[in-house]
Amino acid sequence: MLEAIEWSKISRGSTDAWLYFYEDFLEVYDNALRKRTGSYYTPPEVVGAMVRLVDDALRSPALFDQAKGFASADVTVADPAVGTGTFLLGVFRQIAQTVEQDEGPGAIAAAVTAATRRLIGFELQFGPFAVAQLRLLAEMHTLIPGGAAPDLRLYVTDTLGNPYLEEERLPQLYQPIARSRRDANKIKRSEPITVVIGNPPYKEKAKGRGGWVEQGTAGREAPLDRWVPPPQWKVGAHAKHLKNLYVYFWRWATWKVFGTGLHDSTGLEETDRAGIVCFITVAGFLNGPGFQKMRDDLRRSCNEVWVIDCSPEGHQPEVATRIFQGVQHPVCIVLASRTPKKDSNVPARVRFHSLPSGRREDKFAALARLSLEDQAWTDCPSGWREPFLPKAGADWASCVALDDLFVYNGSGVMPGRTWVIAPDAQSLQERWSTLQHEKEAATKEELFYPHQGGDKTVNKRAKKGLAGHELRPQSVAQDRGPCIAPTGYAFRSFDRQWIIPDNRLINRPNPTLWDWHSRQQVYVTAPEDRSPSGGPALTVTALIPDLHHYAGRGGRVFPLWRDSSATLSNVKPALLSHLSKAYGCGVSAEDVIAYVAGIVAHPGFTTHFKEDLLQPGLRVPVTADAKLFEQACQLGREVVWLHTFGERYANPAKNRPSRPPRMTASEAPRIPKEGAIPGAPEPLPDTMDYDPSLRRLRVGKGYIDNVSPAMWAYAVSGKEVIHQWFGYRKLDRSRPVIGDRRPPSALDDIQLEHWPAEYTSELLNLLHVLGRLVALEPKQQRVLEDIVQGPLLGAEDLKREGALNAPPKLTDEPTDGPAQAKLL
Ligand SMILES: C[S@@+](CC[C@H](N)C(=O)[O-])C[C@H]1O[C@@H](n2cnc3c(N)ncnc32)[C@H](O)[C@@H]1O
Repeated sequence: MLEAIEWSKISRGSTDAWLYFYEDFLEVYDNALRKRTGSYYTPPEVVGAMVRLVDDALRSPALFDQAKGFASADVTVADPAVGTGTFLLGVFRQIAQTVEQDEGPGAIAAAVTAATRRLIGFELQFGPFAVAQLRLLAEMHTLIPGGAAPDLRLYVTDTLGNPYLEEERLPQLYQPIARSRRDANKIKRSEPITVVIGNPPYKEKAKGRGGWVEQGTAGREAPLDRWVPPPQWKVGAHAKHLKNLYVYFWRWATWKVFGTGLHDSTGLEETDRAGIVCFITVAGFLNGPGFQKMRDDLRRSCNEVWVIDCSPEGHQPEVATRIFQGVQHPVCIVLASRTPKKDSNVPARVRFHSLPSGRREDKFAALARLSLEDQAWTDCPSGWREPFLPKAGADWASCVALDDLFVYNGSGVMPGRTWVIAPDAQSLQERWSTLQHEKEAATKEELFYPHQGGDKTVNKRAKKGLAGHELRPQSVAQDRGPCIAPTGYAFRSFDRQWIIPDNRLINRPNPTLWDWHSRQQVYVTAPEDRSPSGGPALTVTALIPDLHHYAGRGGRVFPLWRDSSATLSNVKPALLSHLSKAYGCGVSAEDVIAYVAGIVAHPGFTTHFKEDLLQPGLRVPVTADAKLFEQACQLGREVVWLHTFGERYANPAKNRPSRPPRMTASEAPRIPKEGAIPGAPEPLPDTMDYDPSLRRLRVGKGYIDNVSPAMWAYAVSGKEVIHQWFGYRKLDRSRPVIGDRRPPSALDDIQLEHWPAEYTSELLNLLHVLGRLVALEPKQQRVLEDIVQGPLLGAEDLKREGALNAPPKLTDEPTDGPAQAKLL
């Protein structure tokens, strides 16, 4: 049958033909499964570069000294997530090329036939497995013309499954599959592998999906346990990120190639093993705190680790820059190598190289040029747990971590159901009343939108309310009253909405924020596990913020006050007295927040520290110069006033009245008579666009004039503020449901029918705020440059002098003021 196929027509000529076949094939065959298993095919350019780099490492006299690289008879190779076989194909081609150069074309067929015994692939799904088999057979047909196609060592198996499972305990499957699994298990148990290479699946929150690697054998440590950070490292909250398919595959590969944890997981004796693991995966493990033990273990087991950052753009980069178009997380290639007799007390040398930002084609070109010998690599720190990222520059290291300035930081409100938030209070009241009037219990439950294993349901009673708002002890199902009065809510940076402040409806309200809320409170929100990629690196709000307030992704909230009477500073008191002494004048908590906003909340900060920000975690340069401190504070007070729409830091004498900020009359955006955005009876508008030549922002049938391109383009880490603001108020607010997520509650569909005047007012407020912020940016940039060029109060010095010490702990009880705050 193979002979009857014109292979050349199918695959040669266009090397990628199979990939498209795969994409199209799987699209139809198993789309849901493909998403669930996190399968994204690997571009041939990436596979080619990874295969070449591993080949170089195998040949390197300093490492493995295998003169023929992959073509050496001693080298065994496995791709544990073979997909369509792109990596194995790449390895076969590399072998053919080596043999051709070294021995001549006549030697290829025999070498490739021999190599089929050393190349192994595991795959879970039948679809890609079949494609991989066809692709590799077609390749064999070309490399071994006229010869019989040798057997390929491809197996349908769960790579992460227990290889020690008794054979008779395997379920009675279709025989060839049972055989495939048996043979695969034998390889996993006893065949040494030199190289594991591939593109393992990515799937976060994959608890329970890591098979034996995650669960292990009864009475023994699971392989993954080796990477769980010990409690005394205090990073337990982040360890959940280990529960990701790609991490399970990394752990499987290090177990298999380096033999790490073999004894603990199986009781077998550990022998000295050597080899290479080379994967392309998402990049969270390079610096995430939850991966400290993984990095520690890799530094102990390997001699060399090479890291290629494929996404210098950071999180959610533009699609044209992505290696995998469907993956919005940063991606990296890591090659980890261990030679025999590695001393586990000497950390591996970790080197880093970043591909250029920009189009994926430029990245492919840079990858094609890269070699392990290059000067382009930068050394990373050698501390066991430190990130696999270059050391921060000297200036950056002397800046103070944002977290260190504050006593407390927490996450914003996580409602867990979007219907409790809306851009107007009326929609919330209508949603509540719809829920209340629903007679059918099951539908009511569905509308409420409970979460599997989640703690809030229609029938649950509340013991406590949210501070400052009514308590309704009865369950939602029994509640006959109107909804608890909606209150202002900082939904996204510069997007003020409304929430029902009802503890029965909000999954994780973060009671601390509600306890400490007041008309004086100010919240700084900043990204946590990723770096700002443009615009202000933090934002400020006067309203209780959402978990995703900063740029739509989970971050941290830093309040100004630690109580509702605004007397207990959340900026460390030790720092306030230190700065007061250093500058020779009183420095208040409000000043420090203003200073931070002044120098961090503008695009110049992100640009200046671009290289340093490769590693998430904001830092603030603290000037030693009292005058510069005051200059930054002055700008920062205006920034806070603007970000809070005039609700905080008002000072009429300084042109900061206690009302929404306004630009001067000549700069101000205006709605001409003909531009009115129609309200009733017109439906809500559905389009918004900007005409730069007219400086006109069109909203449905209406428009606003005198809108500058900079206002329109204003973005917070890639999120365009005006565009997003409108997205939450237009007629069609539906968003694509990603992955296996449930569609939102039908209550979400309840929205105003007509554009209300309050939306127009808020849009104008927003434009004025953004316009004034843009005007401040050059001044902020100048002060920042002056500060970083002048003397700083270095982080280490401040630490040594106790300025960053936390005050004694208060009891966890909610406090109404300092009088009730008891010292422990
Ligand atoms: C990212 S894709 C690999 C793509 C492949 N390198 C290519 O370029 O075509 C990951 C593959 O791993 C497979 N996979 C997922 N979980 C697996 C498991 N537990 N064992 C084996 N294969 C698995 C998926 O079916 C998918 O084909």
